Amino acid sequence: MGTLIRNGTVVNAGGTLRADVLVDGEKIAAVAAPGVFTEADTVIDADGKYVLPGGIDAHTHMEMPFGGTASNDTFRTGTTAAAWGGTTTIIDFAVQAKGTSLLSTLDKWHEKADGHCAIDYGFHMIVSDVNDQSLKEMESCIGAGVNSFKMFMAYPGVFYATDGEILRAMQKATDTGSMIMMHAENGIAIDELVAQALAAGRTDPVQHGLTRPPELEGEATSRAIQLARVTGAPLYIVHLSASQALAAVAAARDTGQNVFAETCPQYLYLSIEDLARPDFEGSKFVASPPLRPKEHQADLWRGLRTNDLSVVSTDHCPFCFKDQKELGRGDFSKIPNGIPGVEHRMDLLHQGVVAGELTLQRWVEVSSATPARMFGLYPRKGIIAAGADADIVVYDPTRQQTLGVDTHHMNVDYSAYEGMPITGGVSTVLSRGSVVISDGAFHGREGHGQFLARELSQYLV
Ligand code: URP
Ligand code: ZN
Ligand code: ZN
Repeated sequence: MGTLIRNGTVVNAGGTLRADVLVDGEKIAAVAAPGVFTEADTVIDADGKYVLPGGIDAHTHMEMPFGGTASNDTFRTGTTAAAWGGTTTIIDFAVQAKGTSLLSTLDKWHEKADGHCAIDYGFHMIVSDVNDQSLKEMESCIGAGVNSFKMFMAYPGVFYATDGEILRAMQKATDTGSMIMMHAENGIAIDELVAQALAAGRTDPVQHGLTRPPELEGEATSRAIQLARVTGAPLYIVHLSASQALAAVAAARDTGQNVFAETCPQYLYLSIEDLARPDFEGSKFVASPPLRPKEHQADLWRGLRTNDLSVVSTDHCPFCFKDQKELGRGDFSKIPNGIPGVEHRMDLLHQGVVAGELTLQRWVEVSSATPARMFGLYPRKGIIAAGADADIVVYDPTRQQTLGVDTHHMNVDYSAYEGMPITGGVSTVLSRGSVVISDGAFHGREGHGQFLARELSQYLV
């Protein structure tokens, strides 16, 4: 008889309706007019609440090695925190170290994640060593359900790829129907600015932002777009933060090029003023690209409405203030890059609905439906419909909460959104039919989450 979610308002990317949702096992069995189903083993009353497809965070970093340390959420803690916030799928990044193979990297990331996730998960692959073998191995990754490859125009000596290497990987993406994801910042120019700042004794966290100007994100984004155009490859710009980069994406899309972009909540709500907080507090906000002057935020919201930004992911990459961010005291370039947020994406974006920046449907589209379609998970994920996985969020739009380190579940000793009032909150979360969050408690388990071997992107066929 399953679980019946009744009296709620079902919100899909394609529309909103009053409907009851019947769950049988791991799947949605039916979506029907209110009252059609009268019996079920379990009934969840969603009166006054939204019934949403579970959030899909297409950009997270659990246990990611970076700058001599590693991001502090494990796959267990990070996916549990995600569930608390109404995210039922993450796509994390396996990170190829230079001199190693893509396939051994993939094995390593399966060892970290398999049996430990509370919600379903997939992987993208970070390609940091482009050579004949890794280009060949991209094909095997695709066969293993990992068909999106992140490259870096930043971080020379670590992840950085030359334009020639990017070109070769893009050619492989064109041949295989896979996707290149780009960290678009001009790392060569940035490293000069960083060296100049340090030589002049400018060492505070705000220098992280000042040495990575938005023009150098715009330039790299334009260059990546031209390389993609030459090779015919689809391109997905990750964590877009700057108006200049958005303008480049919009111009390319206007010509019909397959260019897509995501932004992140930190670029919508935080700014370089946070990086400039005194007493090294600014280090909590160090991520790349950096937080921008507030003026960029209106453009990003507009980009979300016009679909030049089609996905919101978190780039969740948590480093504790104590012991981890501290590594960069006296030298901002040694502050591990990353901001925590996997738990708050749905709530933060809901503030955009409350403020009139996004419609309800667009909220669901950028946080669930489009990531599912972009990364080969639709319609298994990203929609409330018969046959889809029963990844369901019952969301109370009237709840009032305040974000902070004392109440969050991410394994990190600060909140980037400390004290921020939020309208709305998750009531109940189902992951493949199992209740994982309800009544303010976690009912899931480590290992419930399954690896998702993804199909190719639906936007490319
Ligand atoms: O600062 C960031 N974004 N850290 C995570 C790694 C990346 O570039 O996405
Ligand atoms: Zn990046
Ligand atoms: Zn990232």
